[in-house]
Amino acid sequence: MKRPLHKTSPSSIGRQSILYLISAAAIFTLYLLAIQFTLFAGKNKIASEHVEILSGFQSSVKQCIANRGFGLTAHIIDHCKLVLKFPEGTNSTWYNAQFKVFEPLEYSYDVCEAILLWEQYRNMTTVLTREYLDARPDGWLDYAAKRIAQLGAEKCYNRSLCEEHLNLLLPGKPPFRPRQFKTCAVVGNSGDLLKTEFGKEIDSHDAVIRDNEAPVNNKYAKHVGLKRDFRLVVRGAARNMVKILDGSTDEVLIIKSVTHRDFNAMIKSIPNPVYLFQGIVLRRGAKGTGMKSIELALSMCEIVDIYGFTVDPGYTEWTRYFSTPRKGHNPLQGRAYYQLLECLGVIRIHSPMRAERMQDWSDVPSREMIGRAHAAALHLKRSQDGQVDGLGQFGSCKVWGNADTNGNGRISGSSDMSALRKNSNYSKWEVMPFNSLRREAQDHYVEMEGVSLYKMDGNKLDDLVCVKHSLISEAQ
Ligand SMILES: *[C@@H]1O[C@H](CO)[C@@H](O)[C@H](O)[C@H]1NC(C)=O
Ligand SMILES: *[C@@H]1O[C@H](CO)[C@@H](O)[C@H](O)[C@H]1NC(C)=O
Ligand SMILES: *[C@@H]1O[C@H](CO)[C@@H](O)[C@H](O)[C@H]1NC(C)=O
Ligand SMILES: *[C@@H]1O[C@H](CO)[C@@H](O)[C@H](O)[C@H]1NC(C)=O
Repeated sequence: MKRPLHKTSPSSIGRQSILYLISAAAIFTLYLLAIQFTLFAGKNKIASEHVEILSGFQSSVKQCIANRGFGLTAHIIDHCKLVLKFPEGTNSTWYNAQFKVFEPLEYSYDVCEAILLWEQYRNMTTVLTREYLDARPDGWLDYAAKRIAQLGAEKCYNRSLCEEHLNLLLPGKPPFRPRQFKTCAVVGNSGDLLKTEFGKEIDSHDAVIRDNEAPVNNKYAKHVGLKRDFRLVVRGAARNMVKILDGSTDEVLIIKSVTHRDFNAMIKSIPNPVYLFQGIVLRRGAKGTGMKSIELALSMCEIVDIYGFTVDPGYTEWTRYFSTPRKGHNPLQGRAYYQLLECLGVIRIHSPMRAERMQDWSDVPSREMIGRAHAAALHLKRSQDGQVDGLGQFGSCKVWGNADTNGNGRISGSSDMSALRKNSNYSKWEVMPFNSLRREAQDHYVEMEGVSLYKMDGNKLDDLVCVKHSLISEAQ
């Protein structure tokens, strides 16, 4: 700063004024430095507060793992990173055919990322809708095509062809809402369900979510219960669906991946509501069907209890409660991740070994503490990404849609349900009056200003599609 000034005006300014200018410039520079330093220190002070909150949270998580993990221990690396270790001598002779290695005894996690991801599901819509396809610029052409099998390279250039496939499956607006249920049971298919009698406990939940072909009948009633509300299914299960449902016409089917013509033919033959799952593909942590069920549950339920997930130590084979062993699972990886999720307040695990002790959740961090940790993780992430803070609850909305019936918003297709939907059990969910929702679900809707949040369904965790609904007409 000083030099150019000195150079460009050597002759026209006297010695004294040069000195004066130099010192003025020096003072100004110092002044700037001082401001920068204060700002920097201020920022650092705020950042260190967040780090402190997260470090405290890590200690609680560590304690929770120690209390609940049956020998699993947490080793804190920093305010976000954590390694879960199985005790020495744990049987890791389980061969992972996918990666051609024996399962390791150590797994590292980023608790900040995990808490950002899973807390977000509590505010999310996980069912694919027309308003979502309308909101995304590539919704009907590219994205819709990805959800239909056997379409080939045609994409959805012929929109009526794609509508034909998807019409049955797509409600205009989200049929289910965040906080719709207080308690939900997610029932996996593990053979360890036969060692306990959780049937009554499972049935006492507001909603029960099951998986694929899981049979529900008197033979297994005392182990898995009889209540049937939701079932996540893969395409392969379509063939047996009528037999599996066995007259359970109220059960909601949610297809995990893609639909196709044969599936649609089956859907037309049953009164059950059938939807497509909407969410991202998890790259890390335990994968598979169990995770999607938990995502679905979190998007509708306050408390998620899981049963039948094979989470106790000592498993050397994998069985389903209704069939013989099969291959392809990673018990240690799954066990570690589910235990972490329990200590992040996402799920509550029920298993044979846990049935023997009291169901006491006091050592799991409280909702309040999780809320603070989430806020701190969000602040740190946004400042790392160079985003302005204070974006609020819509800070991750990358694409906006409008389904406000009072304004310019419009959802493609007919707003009325088709005759097929109207005369079947779809209507139970799709025309539920706002006033009949749980208080907590209503409050949430108002707090969200009538906006539904959807995952973009790609690899970016925090890019959301947000669709605005009229607040007044609904909340009346
Ligand atoms: C689009 O698909 C519909 C339904 O399959 C079909 O009847 C129609 O002929 C197709 N249109 C074109 C231009 O390919
Ligand atoms: C470890 O698992 C294998 C089967 O995968 C079994 O043969 C072996 O007995 C187990 N060892 C212990 C100590 O449990
Ligand atoms: C809807 O489900 C109920 C059971 O909850 C059943 O009695 C009724 O018949 C179903 N409706 C149709 C159209 O199948
Ligand atoms: C979820 O919604 C609630 C309002 O019900 C809001 O306070 C909270 O910040 C939201 N959380 C996330 C992660 O979006």
